[in-house]
Amino acid sequence: MGNIAGKRVLVTGGAGFLGRPVCAALQSRNPAAILVPRKAEYDLTEQAAVRRMLADLTPDVVIHLAAVVGGIGANRDNPGRFFYENAVMGLLLMEEARRRGVSKFVTIGTICAYPKFTPVPFKEDDLWAGYPEETNAPYGIAKKALLIQGQAYRQQYDFNAVNILPVNLYGPGDNFDPSSSHVIPALIRKALEARDAGAPAIEVWGTGSASREFLFVRDAAEGIAAAADRHNDPDPVNLGSGREITIRQLVELICELCNFRGEIRWDPTKPDGQPRRCVDTTRARERFGWTASTDFRDGLRETIAWYETARKGGE
Ligand SMILES: NC(=O)c1ccc[n+]([C@@H]2O[C@H](COP(=O)([O-])OP(=O)(O)OC[C@H]3O[C@@H](n4cnc5c(N)ncnc54)[C@H](OP(=O)(O)O)[C@@H]3O)[C@@H](O)[C@H]2O)c1
Repeated sequence: MGNIAGKRVLVTGGAGFLGRPVCAALQSRNPAAILVPRKAEYDLTEQAAVRRMLADLTPDVVIHLAAVVGGIGANRDNPGRFFYENAVMGLLLMEEARRRGVSKFVTIGTICAYPKFTPVPFKEDDLWAGYPEETNAPYGIAKKALLIQGQAYRQQYDFNAVNILPVNLYGPGDNFDPSSSHVIPALIRKALEARDAGAPAIEVWGTGSASREFLFVRDAAEGIAAAADRHNDPDPVNLGSGREITIRQLVELICELCNFRGEIRWDPTKPDGQPRRCVDTTRARERFGWTASTDFRDGLRETIAWYETARKGGE
């Protein structure tokens, strides 16, 4: 018997980019209710709001997705806010959930928690082998503190807290606002706008030499739902596609799929971020039977098509 069937499942951040497909993936596991609190009603950085939310919604299971997130630029501009808000939301919510007798708590961590120079592929046991890449360290360490909180609560209170670490996500519904978007939506927007304007070139941050791994958002959602249902131990678990790609290859692929044929100009004065990223996903397969299934080109095509419709006002 899983943890979801017949239960009231609260998903913080459940109206966000990852939250919407997570709610859809939970639906097939027959919960009694899926509860999606919004920030406007319950600001989770406030203890009183966290208490009120848990009293109002009485969840059995909490999946904590709410966070302030963004790409390298947003991390560089908001290190204090990203540290404080992400840490305090998780700290308050897990503590209050434990006090109210919530039976399962899932925290979504991040690949930004890994040390800057982790051997590739990143194994969960390497999480503590060094300091994260500087631009995303405040965000990564705030999330990493919640891993320790969950492990400590399991040890002291027998609280069923688990921690899932997804790589960079992409897919329909992503944030395409250039001031806060991640690399894939930022590049898609740039390539489409350059194509439509007939621009001769686009400019891209960094040197292109860094590598990344990207996971389609519905694959990540399925992994989180599977972990919420069946994973009940303290070890953090990576979610990734197992496919490493350099930023240079990524830009070329996105330009091809967006039909932008102009020049790509690199701006090496801008940061590359972490040099390499690719995770080992053996643990997710072994512990709760999850592997990613979406082909990268197919996922990118769907994302580009979604954005082309959305920007014309179709979504
Ligand atoms: N996107 C990625 O590539 C990626 C990769 C790895 C991990 N993650 C993790 O996945 C989770 C979801 O990310 P996302 O990309 O889906 O972000 P998102 O679309 O920005 O969603 C985050 C949600 O958090 C909620 N939120 C923010 N501050 C809040 C507050 N003070 N009180 C209550 N709710 C608050 C917002 O709720 P409202 O809509 O009500 O304002 C928002 O919908 C995060 O924990 C993130 O760290 C994301």
